[in-house]
Amino acid sequence: MIDFVGLAIVLALALGCGYLVKRAWGSKNKILKWAGVVFAGLFTLIFAAAFIAALIGTIRLNANFNASNPASNVQVAASAEQLAFGEKYAKFCAGCHSSNQQLPLSGNNFGGEIPLPIGTLYAPNLTPAGEIKNWTDGEVIRAIREGVHKSGRPLIIMPAEEFKALSDEDVKSLVAYLRSQPAVEPNTPPNNLNVIGAILVNMGVLTNQPHIESVPKPAVAVNAEYGKYLKEIMVCSGCHGENLTGGTAFDGSQAPNLTLVVPKWSEQEFTQVFRTGTLPGGEKLDNHKMPYQEFSDFATDTDLKALYQYLHSLPPTQASP
Ligand code: HEC
Ligand code: HEC
Repeated sequence: MIDFVGLAIVLALALGCGYLVKRAWGSKNKILKWAGVVFAGLFTLIFAAAFIAALIGTIRLNANFNASNPASNVQVAASAEQLAFGEKYAKFCAGCHSSNQQLPLSGNNFGGEIPLPIGTLYAPNLTPAGEIKNWTDGEVIRAIREGVHKSGRPLIIMPAEEFKALSDEDVKSLVAYLRSQPAVEPNTPPNNLNVIGAILVNMGVLTNQPHIESVPKPAVAVNAEYGKYLKEIMVCSGCHGENLTGGTAFDGSQAPNLTLVVPKWSEQEFTQVFRTGTLPGGEKLDNHKMPYQEFSDFATDTDLKALYQYLHSLPPTQASP
């Protein structure tokens, strides 16, 4: 994944502009001289900065995490119940890994949603027709929780930082479901970012590669401990902020401070918010902003009660500015 041609073009542009600065400097015409130096100088700086950013991005894209994040050699075998859990959870992957947001996860041209020519970037086909048929279960688990490709390179966009909370049992159920999907062709092409993609990566599109050894699953019960686990795997913090004290969602909408809201509600009011989208005051939630329907499909009554126990137990906290 090294765009040598792109890097060479950006470098040549920087050098070419630098050469023009030199030419302008030697000009006898004063206006031409200063206009040329300022104009060509500016572009020299821009292309030189772009070259350095692209170079760093390329190095980061080609880093290898095999030593720091070795894949385990677990093998997945799931009961019917676990498969059902895996299927429910896989719906959270469909927003990226499916072009119609539905199962099966047959892949999606993710780069097509980014308004810049960054090269090829698919959220790959995760059915048994896709690349992962050649990956071990341990490698697929590592991709989900640690954001590392089979080759050891970092995965881009893939939010492992959010899925790292998945317990060993639940991530195995998820992989068992991926393997059980119908094999849907065509396979998605291998990802390949060009120099513009490398610049974006350098600006922070790259995700983290947390190293996860083992995550025990708390017992499924109506208590705050299991509720906290659900809050993590349902990624409430992604929008409501690290401590759920309020945050800004990906689309820019404001997600309220849950520590001030939920402690005022009864368990029944809370459950109703998820099952119907209706707040205790009668207002309706917008499913595009707060995807309560997806959460409601995923969560059992026990899950919602546990989530309530956890949120209800949080001390009301004002967000620090
Ligand atoms: C925000 C979008 C997004 C979400 C949500 C997401 N993924 Fe990904 N995923 C990606 C992208 C993009 C890649 C490809 C990254 C690359 O090649 O650098 C990827 C790569 C992968 C890979 C590596 C496959 C391969 O052939 O290279 C696996 C496995 C995977 N994702 C599993 C999942 C699972 C399981 C979920 C749900 C729990 C999920 N992903 C949720 C965007 C996403
Ligand atoms: C994709 C972003 C997103 C995620 C993920 C998300 N929320 Fe929300 N949530 C919002 C937004 C935005 C609002 C405000 C919606 C509105 O004003 O219509 C909201 C509103 C709420 C409300 C109503 C608060 C009020 O008084 O209006 C509750 C309760 C809530 N979320 C709980 C949760 C829980 C629990 C989770 C995790 C299971 C979660 N949310 C995950 C974005 C999100």
